[in-house]
Amino acid sequence: MSTEQRHLLVIGIGAGDPDHLTLGAVRAIRRTDVFFLIGKGPAKSSLTDFRRSVIDEHTDGPYRVVELDDPPRDRSAAGREAYTAAVHDWRTRRADACERLIRDELAPGQSGAFLVWGDPALYDGTLSMLDEIAARGTVGFDVEVVPGISSVSALAARHRTSLNQVGRPVHITPARRLAELFPTGEGDAVGDGAGEGTGSGGGDRQGDGDVVVMLDAHESFTRIEGDDVWIYWGAYIGTPDELLVSGRLADVADRIRQVRAEARARHGWIMDTYLLRRTGRTEDGRA
Ligand SMILES: C[S@@+](CC[C@H](N)C(=O)[O-])C[C@H]1O[C@@H](n2cnc3c(N)ncnc32)[C@H](O)[C@@H]1O
Repeated sequence: MSTEQRHLLVIGIGAGDPDHLTLGAVRAIRRTDVFFLIGKGPAKSSLTDFRRSVIDEHTDGPYRVVELDDPPRDRSAAGREAYTAAVHDWRTRRADACERLIRDELAPGQSGAFLVWGDPALYDGTLSMLDEIAARGTVGFDVEVVPGISSVSALAARHRTSLNQVGRPVHITPARRLAELFPTGEGDAVGDGAGEGTGSGGGDRQGDGDVVVMLDAHESFTRIEGDDVWIYWGAYIGTPDELLVSGRLADVADRIRQVRAEARARHGWIMDTYLLRRTGRTEDGRA
């Protein structure tokens, strides 16, 4: 048996704009022997089509593409412990499947690539999954990460704004933890439907910088209080279906809800991200 290592490339490909592929990503794609495309959820075919078009455009091969259906995840788990257990179980099954792919589909000495949406460093499980597989010691490989342009960078660029105000922090949070950073009109947490409450609703770090919200299945922005909060919202950013709305939250929340609902019905899925900025003023909220 060869003692050569398998080489795994984790390549950030941007969040839907083909022009956001970096030169480093293109070079990495050209070095790839086997692409592992993991699909999930209602957006699966659109996201897989995008990945396939990126491969087609930037390499002539020879290469192989191996597709994997993401194992289903139990989203009914209620409470923090059950939620954590459900995520852990799903991650383990996903790691099992990828371990098999790496061992069976990639020969020692070859390079395999995961084309990661946006940037692999932001709300993406590929790197921790590869750590888990490596720790099992069943298949040897090394890992190289190519950063990508995240949906957060793309959002800020499309709204021509920065993510932070001068000298202040910016927080990036999944929607289910938003209540810890911004006061909401309810005593319990805003959520993504995963059943995990924060029990706060008090926004104990309110006023301490701007907040970027991702993974919001439930329009959590509609529960934010305050006349001086501005929102910079974007969906399908970078794609031909891109939608952008910005303004004082109290003025534009209903419009975003409507635009969002229509788009979601049309596509069957939605990916949106937004920046919330408390300005202390009720006029233009730009940094
Ligand atoms: C699992 S996270 C992946 C984030 C990704 N690694 C990144 O760097 O953007 C998925 C979330 O990213 C955001 N997202 C990804 N692509 C987007 C896009 N094109 N437009 C708006 N939001 C996007 C949404 O908040 C979505 O729920």
